[in-house]
Amino acid sequence: MLLSLIEPDMGRLAAQTAAEGKAPARRSGWAFDALLPYLMRDWTDTEELAAAKTLIGIALQKIIPDPTAKSLVVAGCGAAGLIARLPPTFGKIMGFDLTLPILGAARHLLDGKPLDVPLPRAIHGNGRISLHPSEPPAEGIRPVIAAMDMFDTAFADGTVDCVITSFLLDLIPQPSRLAAEIHRILSDGGIWINYGPSGPLKALWRFDNAECAGFFATAGFTPIHADSHRTTYLDLSQDIPSWSSRSHICYLTAARKTARQQETARPSPPAEQAQFVKLIPRHNPSASLVRHQSLGTDRKLTMALRFERFPGKMERVGIGAQDFQILELVDGKRTVLDIADLLGQKPHNHATADIVSAFRQYFEQDLLLWA
Ligand SMILES: C[S@@+](CC[C@H](N)C(=O)[O-])C[C@H]1O[C@@H](n2cnc3c(N)ncnc32)[C@H](O)[C@@H]1O
Repeated sequence: MLLSLIEPDMGRLAAQTAAEGKAPARRSGWAFDALLPYLMRDWTDTEELAAAKTLIGIALQKIIPDPTAKSLVVAGCGAAGLIARLPPTFGKIMGFDLTLPILGAARHLLDGKPLDVPLPRAIHGNGRISLHPSEPPAEGIRPVIAAMDMFDTAFADGTVDCVITSFLLDLIPQPSRLAAEIHRILSDGGIWINYGPSGPLKALWRFDNAECAGFFATAGFTPIHADSHRTTYLDLSQDIPSWSSRSHICYLTAARKTARQQETARPSPPAEQAQFVKLIPRHNPSASLVRHQSLGTDRKLTMALRFERFPGKMERVGIGAQDFQILELVDGKRTVLDIADLLGQKPHNHATADIVSAFRQYFEQDLLLWA
């Protein structure tokens, strides 16, 4: 009955709201079915969970050798198998998630009670699978789990010592929003440990060790420990071979909270024209201007500025011929006015005002630095 309240039949709800001409009903959290594989991975003694526990355990021991007075929070904890295996020496251990049914199952299992989950016979011959805690919960330890939205948690600023995210960053649409919330709730010098696969190839951020370090630096964290191992991802082969996928690399990045980059905002360039033209523009250290001619019959020429504003995060901005000419003259010695003068002497005769306004845009977009 509880499950039917919190995991309503979305198909029926959608038909009902459509018939009433209302906006479609919105679900909170994920569908329980989508989390079944994670529930099984966590509570059927899989090697995959044991490997995650080992890698995260090594990082915790190295970074927080005395955790007795520290609080540890697992964000988007899902079925909470990891929570059951975290070192019980932490003063407080807590997990939260937005999918209530999975939290219900997690509570049951964390309390040491087995749970039978019905499954279609096409997936499992028995029509059900029995989940069970591998060991009784440690004496006196009862991890707290709660329903919370990770983008707007109930923790006060600076009150958590360590946050763990696992199999999460690569799956959510706005990882930087989560990073901002973790930054808010962590104490000064607090630790964030992220673990999981790197994510889709074309995603803006991938969470392998190099890119994750760049992501952390942007979000106001200093990476302090990285590890990776080849493992299986959702290996349920003991029970359901058809649901198993193999051979993924899982990355672990641990980082310490420092200042966010936005908090140390650079000053704006002077608005006053006479001052502005004396600025000496320079490229980002890793920048390069690239010309690319297509091999097709049109021999189309494209130009771009490539640079690595954040470590591990190569960016490419397409630019036009005039911008290319201007940026080519940026050498870290000439002023804006020197460059405008040089270009003014060229046959195309660029107007000084256009060049100055182009530089204003480059600075605003962080394409160029200046002295
Ligand atoms: C792929 S699962 C991973 C669960 C767990 N961390 C693990 O390693 O098995 C992602 C989890 O994020 C939870 N989640 C998604 N959006 C959330 C949100 N806005 N706030 C909290 N949890 C969320 C889902 O309910 C799900 O349990």
